[in-house]
Amino acid sequence: MSTQEHALYYSDALIENLQMRWGAGFMSPGGADELVHMLRGVQVRGARLLDFGCGIGGYDALLAEVHDAAHVTGVDIDGASLAQAEERRVRRGLQDRLRFRQVTPGPLAFEDGSFDIVFSKDSIVDLPEKAPVFAEFHRLLAPGGHVVVGDWFRGAAPFTPEMRAWATDGNETYEMDTLDSAAAALRAAGFVSVETEDRNAWFREYARDEYERLKGPLYQVYVDRFGAAQARTSVENARVRALLADQGQLRPGHIRGRKP
Ligand SMILES: C[S@@+](CC[C@H](N)C(=O)[O-])C[C@H]1O[C@@H](n2cnc3c(N)ncnc32)[C@H](O)[C@@H]1O
Repeated sequence: MSTQEHALYYSDALIENLQMRWGAGFMSPGGADELVHMLRGVQVRGARLLDFGCGIGGYDALLAEVHDAAHVTGVDIDGASLAQAEERRVRRGLQDRLRFRQVTPGPLAFEDGSFDIVFSKDSIVDLPEKAPVFAEFHRLLAPGGHVVVGDWFRGAAPFTPEMRAWATDGNETYEMDTLDSAAAALRAAGFVSVETEDRNAWFREYARDEYERLKGPLYQVYVDRFGAAQARTSVENARVRALLADQGQLRPGHIRGRKP
C-alpha cells in the first residue's frame, strides 16, 4: 500500500470503525493491556519517547499518564489522525508531555540521540523497506536506549490461499516480515539484546472475540453508523483475521532491543 493510498485509507469513518472495536484512541488491537505487555522490562518512567506511526495518539496518552514517560513525541504521515491525537492531547491536559508531528517517509528531523525509547505499534508493517527505518531508530536513540516494536508478522510457512488473498490481493496489502526476520533486521541496524515475543496465542482469542462481537452485539451499531454493506465487510474482515490467526499465518508479535 503506498503512503498516498494509506492517507486515504484511514478515513475518519475507518478510524471510528476501528476504535469501536479496539477502544477509544487505538487503531490497533490490544489497547492498555497490550501496551503493558510490549513494555515489559523497559523503564518508561522519566524517559523521552518517540512513537513512530502514532495514529490518533491513544497509546501516547497512556505512555504519559499511566507509564509516566517524561515526554512523548508522536510522528505520523497522516494529518487527519494527528488532528485527533492533538485533540486528545489538549482534552487530557497533556500539552507539556506530548507533541505530535506530521512527517514524510524518510529521515526524521530530530537530532541524533534525542530519545531514550523508540516505540512503534502496528505501523512498520506498512513499510516496504524496514532497514532504513530501523537505522533511523538507532540514530535517534541515546546510547543505552531501547527500541520497542509491536507489529503484525507472518508465519514462516508458505501463505495459505486465504492469507495470500488477505495480505497481497485484497484491499488490505501488507508488507509482512516474520518476527525472526524483523529481529535480524534490528540486529543488522546495530541493536543488541534483541528479544522477540510471538503473540499469536493471545491474538487468536482476541480475534475470535472481536469476530463474535462484530457479528453479534456490535452488528446493528455498525449498520446504523456505517451502513449494512460496511457492517458486513467489517464482520467478514474480522472472520478472516480470526481464521488466519488460527492457521498460524497471522502472528502479531513484539520485539525489544537496546542500542549499545
Ligand atoms: C495501524 S495504524 C497504528 C496507529 C497507532 N500506532 C495505533 O496502534 O493506534 C498505522 C499508522 O502508521 C502510520 N504510518 C504509515 N507509514 C508511516 C511512515 N512512513 N511514517 C510514519 N507513520 C506512518 C499510518 O498513517 C497509521 O497512522
